[in-house]
Amino acid sequence: MAPQDSATLIRPALGLGAWAYDRGEFVPATAPRLPLSTQGLHYGTGAFEGIRAHRSDAGVFLFRAHDHYRRLLRACRLLRITGIRHDAGELVDLTVELLRRNAHDTDAYVRPVAYKLSLLPGTPPGVSLHGVSDALSITTFGFPQSRAAGGVRCVLSGWRRPAGDSLPAQAKITGGYATTALAADEARASGYDDAILLDRSGNVAEATTANVFAVVGGTLVTPPDTGDLLPGITRDTLITLCREAGTEVRERVLRPADLFTADEVFLSSTGNGVVPVISLSGRDVGTGAVGPVTTRVRELYTEAVTSPGGARPEWLTPVSSHATPTTGKQG
Ligand SMILES: Cc1ncc(COP(=O)(O)O)c(C=O)c1O
Repeated sequence: MAPQDSATLIRPALGLGAWAYDRGEFVPATAPRLPLSTQGLHYGTGAFEGIRAHRSDAGVFLFRAHDHYRRLLRACRLLRITGIRHDAGELVDLTVELLRRNAHDTDAYVRPVAYKLSLLPGTPPGVSLHGVSDALSITTFGFPQSRAAGGVRCVLSGWRRPAGDSLPAQAKITGGYATTALAADEARASGYDDAILLDRSGNVAEATTANVFAVVGGTLVTPPDTGDLLPGITRDTLITLCREAGTEVRERVLRPADLFTADEVFLSSTGNGVVPVISLSGRDVGTGAVGPVTTRVRELYTEAVTSPGGARPEWLTPVSSHATPTTGKQG
């Protein structure tokens, strides 16, 4: 059989926008080619973000995009990805331009990824952060936030969240998601929707791609972001909104037994928003149905991500031309 042209093997992913931003220019999303020697591919030396644009009657708005790009730029500092010449505001502007070009007709998901690319002349082969060029690309996908209104079934994973002294927790480092993939695969192969990972001490860290909240003894609790978990932007959003609404939120260590005895458990992430956990490792959480605190927190979140006149208008950046203008700048 004749070898296939690699171009014929590249298929658009479901919902992939027609255009991408890749290494300084807007290009057709299926056209970019990376060298097979790309360092980030071999060694996981990259960092990414997931950002949401929500579509509502008021228009299309990016949510906390500046905060997501600030987190990405901090991760770049960690990985010595020094070639990104844009600040967070400029990256948001590029993202708005890309979303406009791609004109998704549903909520959209934005995936920037910054990574180590090629050895510079004089750099010996091997794992290195120095002497390696770097790159940034952004793709967008049209897909609605699932909201999983009826809740998900989770398992306590056999895989542990890597400790921060092995894998920095505050950045979404591509290589670290091998653990995520193993835990998600284990959960799905066993019939669960998602996994909750413990840290090295056996305390609750986070779900595969979400933070964990629980209602314990009437109080909303989440593990502190000084632990081995990604300090999620959705987590911060929910803590802020709940406290502003007069609901106490305690950041404290959660043990597995706290989850098994909690009245309610839910997950928080940009990708899926607030997702109720109705069972854990085969046991009902609380009554086994979506609880009132989770429902209220979901309402607060939905309002914040879709309403330019809502609690924090500065969190929203308008994308579509009919959206109400805001400054789009975050403090
Ligand atoms: C490991 C992990 N924890 C938590 C989260 C939630 O973070 P955020 O709310 O910033 O999306 C994510 C998001 O993808 C994640 O990958």
